[in-house]
Amino acid sequence: MIRLSAITPSGHVHLGNHLGAIRRWAAEGKPDDLYFISDLHGMTSSHNPAVLRALAREQLAVLIAAGVGERTVFVQSDLARELGALTWVLECTCSYGEAARMIQFKEKSKGQAGVRLSLLTYPVLMAADILLQGAAQVPVGEDQRQHVELARVLARRFNATYGEVFTVPEAVLPPAAARVRDLSEPARKMSKSTRDAAGVLFVLDEPDALRRKIKRAVTDGGSTVAYDPEGRPGLANLLDILAGCVDGDPVELAAEYTSYGALKAAVTEAVVETLAPIRTAATALLDDPAELDRIRKAGATRAAERGEHRLQSALRLIGA
Ligand code: ADP
Ligand code: NA
Repeated sequence: MIRLSAITPSGHVHLGNHLGAIRRWAAEGKPDDLYFISDLHGMTSSHNPAVLRALAREQLAVLIAAGVGERTVFVQSDLARELGALTWVLECTCSYGEAARMIQFKEKSKGQAGVRLSLLTYPVLMAADILLQGAAQVPVGEDQRQHVELARVLARRFNATYGEVFTVPEAVLPPAAARVRDLSEPARKMSKSTRDAAGVLFVLDEPDALRRKIKRAVTDGGSTVAYDPEGRPGLANLLDILAGCVDGDPVELAAEYTSYGALKAAVTEAVVETLAPIRTAATALLDDPAELDRIRKAGATRAAERGEHRLQSALRLIGA
């Protein structure tokens, strides 16, 4: 039962990515699971090549540093040949209407000039990511369910039309984790793509930067420390972050603090303690390009080898 998850190098990895995804990949990942840095997906709208390349490397270092098994990680573009070829096969299995119907495409292309064709075909590349590896389960949020559904349809259609090659994947809901929210604007989630980084706690931030950002975090009105996500989202977010870092319960934690100052000090300590070891290990990897390259190459080779027989069978069956 192979599971597949990805993170797009659209910005620096933040605490939300760590608590909501990476930490779990490290703790629960099985040897057969696969985690990849989806840099090819990062090329579907305006991007800076050098920045994308550097971010992909940084994310790889962070994943390894956070304890995601070295044997399970790869960078998507290292499989560009395999994925490009399989994407073509799957595009020949998919109708234009099916791609154009994707809600994400409609939303992301709206009002955009010069929409890249890759933004339309991106879900087909995603199907290739999944089907190349024979992944049975794909943990995705609501926004990506339609894309996994497309991968299911294409796998079934290919198998029925040309011959059995692909495992039909299934979207599974990832275990519920509190959404970490932006410290300055708790109405929105903490995100890599936020331009104003004041409310985003990056995994590679220096402890001083983390301290400063938490100090400035909005706490809403009022003077008591209570857990009220609806009425006081800023404060609730700090409690969620603390709970996430110390593996505690936000309501119980709220009862332990009487001042914002004390709570913020505790949050700072917990965040620094959670992120410092990852930052140290990731920085060491980034300072040792040969070692990072070795890990990267081994992961890519393994992932390519795992998918090669499916790609070759699919090409032969469709007429190559
Ligand atoms: P971002 O929105 O920062 O670009 P992604 O969409 O690349 O993040 O998500 C990568 C992983 O991190 C996903 O599994 C996603 O659920 C998780 N994640 C992203 N943002 C948060 C957040 N604010 N809180 C909890 N988990 C998050
Ligand atoms: Na995003």
